[in-house]
Amino acid sequence: MTDQPLTPAAVDALRQQFRASLAAATAAPQLTALKDEFLGRKSGLVTALLKGLGSLTPDQKREMGAQVNALKQEVEAALTEGLAAAQDARPVGAVDVTLPGRDLPAGRIHPLMRVRQQVEDIFLRMGYEILEGPEVEDDFHNFEALNMPPDHPARDMQDTLYLGAPIVGGIWGQHRVPGGPDAQVRAATLLRTHTSAMQIRYMKTFTPPVRIIVPGRVYRRDDLDLSHTPMFQQFEGLVVGEGITLTDLKGTLEAMMRALFGGETKVRLRPSFFPYTEPSAEVDVSCQGCGGTGCGTCKHTGWLEILGSGMVHPAVLEAVGYDPEKVTGFAFGLGLERVAMLKYGVDDIRLFYENDLRFLEQFPPL
Ligand code: DAH
Repeated sequence: MTDQPLTPAAVDALRQQFRASLAAATAAPQLTALKDEFLGRKSGLVTALLKGLGSLTPDQKREMGAQVNALKQEVEAALTEGLAAAQDARPVGAVDVTLPGRDLPAGRIHPLMRVRQQVEDIFLRMGYEILEGPEVEDDFHNFEALNMPPDHPARDMQDTLYLGAPIVGGIWGQHRVPGGPDAQVRAATLLRTHTSAMQIRYMKTFTPPVRIIVPGRVYRRDDLDLSHTPMFQQFEGLVVGEGITLTDLKGTLEAMMRALFGGETKVRLRPSFFPYTEPSAEVDVSCQGCGGTGCGTCKHTGWLEILGSGMVHPAVLEAVGYDPEKVTGFAFGLGLERVAMLKYGVDDIRLFYENDLRFLEQFPPL
């Protein structure tokens, strides 16, 4: 090539030659050969033109240099694009078996379900039955039979989502019941504010001994924040039989907390008040963050409040037709989210319900 004069016509001729060759090349090997033919370092056709620049005058060099470089760029760009397209168009079966495989996303159990299964297993091993119950309740089971009559101040502790129409009467509009305002309240339907309502349903249906765990959703008129969601989940525990004492309650809670949080976990009962238990106790576990020595998580007390409990109130036993002279019992209720937050160090309850994979993927697959 070097013996040909380096003129605009020569550059143009090579451009035409390249375009014709390119039009005929489709597969990657042909394109690679073209790259050698035109851009090869030693004997590439475009390379030869570039070498020819050396023998020109400075003015010619400037003018022809620009033209040859433009051609070189055109050839490079066309070949790069062609090779990429050829790569994409590889026929099925032309698989590079040396490439690593693609990860298949593995599903995993939601952290709340994981904790729920653990709690259920702990109590199944201790001989409890596990059952759910209706989320739409009536006033009688959610409040009244639990020793909270219509005007009882304890009802203010739970901001209730009322559905309005009574269950008996359904959704057919106005429903008036004989007996005045109290009777009207008793007939109201609502979303259960706690799983304690199932204590009543179960005891009304079955005779002692009773040993049950009731997991399930509950609803309150709460705004979303770090520790509240209008729907959350609870476990209710209820044991009734002859000779059941507060010691049984404490032993049971200790067994549960050690199975959940580890063998070193300590449990303490603090006097409290619930209308459906007497005596009532708030239960704390030793802090998971510091092991009980005091840290930010437990506000330097070493303890974290985890559940409410107590000995079933005689009025509740009477309301379901049990004889409080013959049987006694204990009950407890705890929040599933609260347990999961403590167990996994989660500081915002809303994370459990946002279905953000970045959060969920941090829990190990099953
Ligand atoms: N129902 C209570 C709540 O929702 C929790 C509770 C406290 C349940 C004491 C019980 C109990 O069975 O005995 O906060």
